[in-house]
Amino acid sequence: MSEWQAISGLSIAIDGPSGSGKGTVAKMLANEVGLPVLDTGLLYRVVASVALSRTVALDDSKALAGLVDGLLTSIDWTVEGIFFEGENVTADLRSEQVGEAASRVASLSAVREKLLGLQRQLAQAGCIMDGRDIGTVVLPDAPAKFFLTASVRERARRRWAQLKDDGGSSLEAVVDELKMRDQRDRERQHAPLCQAEDAITIDSTTMRVDDVVDRMLGVLERRGLIQLSS
Ligand code: DC
Repeated sequence: MSEWQAISGLSIAIDGPSGSGKGTVAKMLANEVGLPVLDTGLLYRVVASVALSRTVALDDSKALAGLVDGLLTSIDWTVEGIFFEGENVTADLRSEQVGEAASRVASLSAVREKLLGLQRQLAQAGCIMDGRDIGTVVLPDAPAKFFLTASVRERARRRWAQLKDDGGSSLEAVVDELKMRDQRDRERQHAPLCQAEDAITIDSTTMRVDDVVDRMLGVLERRGLIQLSS
């Protein structure tokens, strides 16, 4: 059982660039406070993955918007991940190729607008949601927003350490790839990656993940959003 109890319907936004550790931190925090965690990157990844398999061009806004309409009835986005036609496809969505394609489809406003309603609807019951535009666009009224960062070198090193086990690319190649993805996510016109004015920034470059979670718990407790379970 979690040590902490969250107030009813609490939503917490965690945004940040690729490799900043949002996913890991969101899961640990969710465990501590007993809230479900929803990874919004998976939504863009599933659109990208289906577009790749159906050879839909990644800049064809109209075709991709149509594809999202079809997907909304055949995907199930849950705390366990994304189910497509009844099968949990989350692991397949984690590849670098799909991540890169996701960053491209995510730059299209037609795609983002179609996914917005689904994200808001699922957040209603309370959750921790991680992504790029949660504090700014998806849940602008969230009572707690965090912006997690780390230096590009450290983010690349973390990603490279994961990929290395699968015989992946060199560290330098991962740095270059991350820089490109950062640029695309930050410079897109619609809902770019940026910090909400009322978000608390945590730079995790030299922090342990436990310390990041502790800092977040401290903020939530001070704001009266969580309390120790009796
Ligand atoms: O967090 P991730 O690597 O799974 O996200 C994949 C891509 O999706 C990322 O390049 C940016 C995009 N994304 C987004 O634009 N908005 C979100 N809320 C989540 C992800």
